[in-house]
Amino acid sequence: MVSRVITFLALVVPIWSLPPLTPTQYPGVYQLTEPVDHAECPSWDDRNNILYYVNIHDGQVYRYDYEQGTVNYITLDGEVAPVIPSKRDPNLLIVGLGRSVAAVEWDGVSDPSETRILAALAPDFPTSTVNDGKADKQGRLWIGTMGYEGPDGLTPDEGILYQVTCDNLDSPLVEIAPVNISNGLAWNAANDKFYYIDSPSFLIVEYSYNDETGEISDRRVVFDRTAHDLLGDPDGMTIDEDDNLWVALYGGGGVIKIDSSNGDLLEIVPLPALDVTSAIWGGPDLDILYVTTSRVSLTDEQKLEQPAAGAVFAIVNLGTKGRPTFEVDLLGSIDDETCGAKKVLRE
Ligand SMILES: *[C@@H]1O[C@H](CO)[C@@H](O)[C@H](O)[C@H]1NC(C)=O
Repeated sequence: MVSRVITFLALVVPIWSLPPLTPTQYPGVYQLTEPVDHAECPSWDDRNNILYYVNIHDGQVYRYDYEQGTVNYITLDGEVAPVIPSKRDPNLLIVGLGRSVAAVEWDGVSDPSETRILAALAPDFPTSTVNDGKADKQGRLWIGTMGYEGPDGLTPDEGILYQVTCDNLDSPLVEIAPVNISNGLAWNAANDKFYYIDSPSFLIVEYSYNDETGEISDRRVVFDRTAHDLLGDPDGMTIDEDDNLWVALYGGGGVIKIDSSNGDLLEIVPLPALDVTSAIWGGPDLDILYVTTSRVSLTDEQKLEQPAAGAVFAIVNLGTKGRPTFEVDLLGSIDDETCGAKKVLRE
């Protein structure tokens, strides 16, 4: 028996010629929420065990309370991405809204405050919209945009990655331009590397990162999806405590785990949804990978085959964990006048 098994392995492994995958750890995939059109941009607030995410095109900000098991949402006026809680007030949410950065105060129970617009983005590209974003360790907001995507495809080269701080609200700093669809965003544990994805490029890139100044330099390609037997565009991304990247594949039906030091493909976790949009570590021990998905681009037939597409999934037993999501540090409260004092509240 033993020799037959060895023969089987010896025959099969070279034929597959796959990169070395870690032994299967039987991750468990659970559907956490009801589907929406296009769930994206999950962020985890470890102060209150809250998962935030958005339904971009419907302007909805969702709030999943881990302890209560409840899901609530509010609807804002425009496309919304990302949603990130603030450092000095957990209920003060910083969002990308249309082509702006905005703040809204919401505790998940009471009615939300009025939306306060803090900064305008992409003035030269009136049909572009916000896409993914994250805060860095200093609380600066990194937020990207993408060109208009319609039936004829994407308007190219109209995306921009910005860095938004209290000091540059009148003219947010351009970090990377042009891009097509700004996505990804992760920092390593040492906080000296920044990872980024422009989805249609199929690449994950790394920059050296200076946390003190917020500057990025020395672009290097870490991973090229086209060099692998995989489908889909790299979309949202997070990083684990060992600096492995967990990357959603839009059109690829899963999440992949990449060694950021050498680009090795370590693991593929399939999901019951073709269009996987992003991932974040959460849960009280930061060992649950929350993954958002979309149904907006599916055909009617695909929607029937993938009834959970558009849901948020929770993946457990991945054998690793993440670090807390960084919070944005722009305002202390919704009517804090010390930052962006000249901006008026929107009616
Ligand atoms: C954006 O996409 C277009 C069309 O595929 C391509 O020509 C262009 O080089 C891309 N831009 C970037 C910044 O990758």
